[in-house]
Amino acid sequence: MKNNKIIAVWGNPDSGKTTFSIKMANELIKKNKSVILVMADSYVPAIHTVLPFTETKDQSLGALLSSIQISQESILKKCIPVPNTKNLSILSYLHGENIRTYADYGKERVLDFFILLKHLADHIIVDCSSQFHHDLLSRGALELSDQVIRLISPDLKAISFYDASLPLLGEKKYNVANHIKVLSDVKSEMPKDSVGNRFGGIQKELDHCEELQRQMLEARLFEPLTDKKSEGYNTQLQNLMDALFFSEEVYENKEKNPLKKNLRKIGFFKKEVMHK
Ligand SMILES: Nc1ncnc2c1ncn2[C@@H]1O[C@H](COP(=O)(O)OP(=O)(O)OP(=O)(O)O)[C@@H](O)[C@H]1O
Ligand SMILES: [Mg+2]
Repeated sequence: MKNNKIIAVWGNPDSGKTTFSIKMANELIKKNKSVILVMADSYVPAIHTVLPFTETKDQSLGALLSSIQISQESILKKCIPVPNTKNLSILSYLHGENIRTYADYGKERVLDFFILLKHLADHIIVDCSSQFHHDLLSRGALELSDQVIRLISPDLKAISFYDASLPLLGEKKYNVANHIKVLSDVKSEMPKDSVGNRFGGIQKELDHCEELQRQMLEARLFEPLTDKKSEGYNTQLQNLMDALFFSEEVYENKEKNPLKKNLRKIGFFKKEVMHK
């Protein structure tokens, strides 16, 4: 089994990051693994969108990250157990909070947080914010995770998002060439081949699934998908779980280095300076 302890789920806005993070957590606990799901979005606190009736008792991820000291005990106190499941809990910003609610925290805190988390569950799933440049925790997850799943909607908005965002992840520490790229919420009429080519190939797909959409609207994502029409999505999910945790598949990533375009520009700029 692959040692993918911390998994970051990142992607363009609305690409299905939260949905997929929950479905992956469900699959892991079915295999008797313990999971902590970190919902990093501080702009749209996620907990009340996925578990609106769950009591949260001041268990805010924001309070934890900005506290003077952090320990395994303080993390566990902020973990919100998912009702009717074993071994699955959530760390999230709470309803009504925003980026001004808590004091700022630094990189060292993010590092300590992930080091401590690793000892508290078999797997840590981080549902990252698309806008990682405004969010130290998501940026930390993209750098420190064992595997990043990058969800891509098969449309022009996703292309625009990635053309703008990938250059910001050009540093080697982000290792974007190692991302598992997944086309997400794919409908038959979508130009998935063109989008796939644009990204130098796609490794996996997750089809559009109506039951999943209903589950999101009714805040039932922690329940299994039982509709016959969801079989395709379930199979794709299994396939992705295998790739993440079991098979030794190696991906050939033909994506262009996101920094190349900028490096060329910098090179040009340097020449100009030298000629002066
Ligand atoms: N495979 C799918 N089939 C059908 N609907 C889906 C699928 N994946 C996601 N969705 C729907 O797409 C919408 C966005 O999903 P979700 O909130 O998980 O995306 P996100 O990337 O977390 O969004 P955000 O950028 O706002 O955090 C939701 O309405 C969800 O139900
Ligand atoms: Mg989300």
